[in-house]
Order: sequence, then structure tokens, then C-alpha cells
Amino acid sequence: MEKSVSAVQESVAIHRPRCAAARRRAAAVICTLLLLPALYLNLNSLVSWIHPAAPPFAHLSAHCAHIPPIAAPAFHQRQRALAATLHALNASVYIAEPGASAQYYANISGRSWHLSERPLLLLVAPRVSADGTVEPRIAVLTPTFEATRARLLPVPAEGAVVYPEWPEDVDPYQVAVDALGVGDGTIFVDGSVRHFVVDGLAAAAPSARVLSAPVEIRQLRERKSAEELEIMRCANEVTVLAIRAVREQLYIGVRESEAHALMDEALAAAGLEGGSSLVLFGENAALPHGSGTDRALGPHDFVLIDCGGSLHGYVSDVTRTFLLPDSSASTRHLALWHLVHVAQARALQAAQAGVVASSVDAAARELLKTSGNGQYFTHRLGHGIGLEGHESPYLRGGSKDVIQTGHTFSDEPGIYIEGEVGVRIEDCIYIDEEGRAVYLTEGVGAPTQSPWAP
Ligand SMILES: *[C@@H]1O[C@H](CO)[C@@H](O)[C@H](O)[C@H]1NC(C)=O
Ligand SMILES: *[C@@H]1O[C@H](CO)[C@@H](O)[C@H](O)[C@H]1NC(C)=O
Repeated sequence: MEKSVSAVQESVAIHRPRCAAARRRAAAVICTLLLLPALYLNLNSLVSWIHPAAPPFAHLSAHCAHIPPIAAPAFHQRQRALAATLHALNASVYIAEPGASAQYYANISGRSWHLSERPLLLLVAPRVSADGTVEPRIAVLTPTFEATRARLLPVPAEGAVVYPEWPEDVDPYQVAVDALGVGDGTIFVDGSVRHFVVDGLAAAAPSARVLSAPVEIRQLRERKSAEELEIMRCANEVTVLAIRAVREQLYIGVRESEAHALMDEALAAAGLEGGSSLVLFGENAALPHGSGTDRALGPHDFVLIDCGGSLHGYVSDVTRTFLLPDSSASTRHLALWHLVHVAQARALQAAQAGVVASSVDAAARELLKTSGNGQYFTHRLGHGIGLEGHESPYLRGGSKDVIQTGHTFSDEPGIYIEGEVGVRIEDCIYIDEEGRAVYLTEGVGAPTQSPWAP
């Protein structure tokens, strides 16, 4: 388009002197004929500037529009399960700071209450009622001067939530321990609770044991419910659709930064919050977490895009390594792509309820080793995913975590040859009711089938 406009303008310029010559009339006709297309083309670009075509990512917004967030009854069920587990473990209380676990049990995310040096704590303690059922008692420890704001947090609960307050000149941990009478026995803290909070609790309850929450409690959040899986399926599907939509916009010569901007735009258009992406071309993809030289895409380069965002708090994570329709890769690089592709499938086959996480990692790694590429697969196979982008269980050598129904984790083998090429393919898996591994992205045709079909 640009070329033809300038060609017309050039010819207009060449012919202009003749217009000034004696035969004005004929010349005027010629000039008009020559100028009209130029005028037309310019008008066209003016029109498209004023009234742009539909943005290339608008279609993505519909994909997850019908998926509801987690509703109050699910929070109640989680709180009852936590109380029952605490009771079974003979623990007096579970404590978490705002973040993924507090979000899971009480809807207090790190976004709704930012961490500071002043503790705001979620406490859940079991209470055995007269008929023997175990019920949760819920407290939110709050700084006194922030009490009004703390009470505005939408904490879904069947019973009353109490808000013990600590004035600035009082030990917050003593207030917390006294409010629920949990100074004895075992206090379980969420794994992400900061050390000074743990120290403060230990000092306030010297006869209690303050321990990190054990696997029985971690699993409550690790193992996803049907409604969580519905959210995660949609988030991961639309992430694949976003990568495909961005691929349509790419061309030989595009820069990593431009593709990166498109990717972020597509994730936002898809309705995902906090979208982030890694876009690496050619040998830049050999550094698994990127180098950022803002390289231009060559005709024989793989494009590696690793990206995700969150839907109702649940994070997606997908990686595709692909070629553009007109680009090609060497036989060697295509062979590496296919190895990674098969390794990903091997891990899917190995994953099922009851196996240890390390054996899933080993299934993918074994293939890359026997092909002589073991040394280029430099990271673990995958990580659990949910309210956090990376959470337990981790799929790595040495892990004794047992895969169970409801677990969700990434399957992302890769080959990284520094200075030459990087290939990674990633889809997240969930373990279904029958104990089988299924891709969260299956609904949009995952796994990828070729470098030209991401
Ligand atoms: C959870 O909190 C969010 C705001 O952070 C709110 O929009 C949502 O309604 C809350 N959910 C429930 C079930 O209260
Ligand atoms: C349960 O914890 C209490 C302290 O809270 C302790 O006295 C009791 O012995 C524990 N029971 C068992 C069975 O461990």
C-alpha cells in the first residue's frame, strides 16, 4: 500500500511540469486522472485512521465472559474443610496473611489488603459443637486504626467473623492468640507467612508449637474443585487463543518488544488481569527467562511466547514455540521442536493420581536424555498452579509429592542451547475424577501439533 501511494505521487510529480505547459486543458485532464487515485488512496488512509478496523483481539473477550467467580457457599465449604482438618490434626488454629491462602479461605487477597509491617491476619480455629460437628471460628486481626477498612473486606462466612483489634502500643500477636484462646497446642501458619510474624506468634504463645501448615492442609488448596477447574480451563484456553491471535499479527522483521506489547494487549482483551508475557526470538529463547535484546524476527527463527494472566484470581500459564506461516526452520531445529513435543506428551501419559511428582518429571527427561539432549533441559518439568502462578506441588526430580485428583500443574519441557535456539512447550494439566491427566487447554485443541499450528 505505501509503495503504490508513493509511486502515484512520483508520477504526479513527474507530470506536473507538463500541466503548466501550453495545452492546459488536456494536461488538466491528465493531471486529474493521475491525481484522483492519489487523492483516493490518501482519503482511504485518512478514513481508516479516523475509523479503525475492529481491533484484532476484540473476539477474545467473549470466551470467558460466562464464567462466574467463586461464590460464597464454596468459601463456607473451604472453611469447614479447614476446620475439620485442623481438628483431625489436633491443631488449635490456622493463620495466614493476605495472599493466596487467605484468598482461598476468606477472600482476602494480596490485592485487597497489601502487606505492610503492621500485621493483618486471618485466623481459623475449629470448634466442636454439641452434636459433634466441627465448625470454623473465623477472626481477622486488624490494626485498630484500620478496623473500619478491615471490616469492609468481603469475608464470606456462615457464622460471625470477629475482628480483634490491636492498638499501636500493644503486641498484635498477643491480641491474636488471646482473642481465640489458642495459646496452647499447635498453631499452623501458612507457608508464606513472614518470619517476623512467626516469631511474634511464638513469643506470644510460648507453650504452643508454631509450625508450617502440613501437607494435609496444603492439599485443601492444591486440589481444585469443579468450579475452580472451570475457571482455570477457560483462563488457559483463552491464553492459547490470545497467542494464536498475536501470531496472526506478527511478520518477519517485527521486534520482540512489539510482539510483547501485542501479547499484553491480547491478554487484556481476553479479560485476564495482570497479564504478563515473555517473547523471545531465535537464540534469545535459549535463556529460559529471557534476555531482552529486542531482536527482530528472522525468517528462520522460532518465536517463543510464554504468557498468562488471571481470571477470578486463578492464573493461566501457556508457552508456545512456533514459526510464522512463511518461515522455516532447519531440520535440526525442527527435530528439537518435535523432541520437546513428544517429551510433553510423555509427561502427560505418566501423570495420574497416585504417582510421585518426580516420576512425571523423569518421563519427559528420559526422552530428552536418550536423544542426547538431556543437558539442555535445565529446569524442572513443571509447577503447581492456581491462585498463585507457581505453587505446590512442584514436578521436579527428588519430589515425593503424590499427584492426586484435582491437582493442577504445568507440563513444560524445554531444550535450551545457548547462542543457538530455545524451544519450550507448556500446557497445564489437571487430574480428573478418574485420576487421569487432562490438559486444561484441551478445549481449544491442545496440545500443539506442529510449529505452524500453535
Ligand atoms: C470476594 O472479594 C471480591 C473483591 O476482592 C468481591 O468482588 C467478591 O464479591 C467477594 N466474593 C464473595 C463471595 O464475597
Ligand atoms: C492435642 O493437643 C492438646 C493441646 O492443645 C494436647 O494436650 C493433647 O495431648 C493433644 N492430643 C493428642 C491426641 O495429641
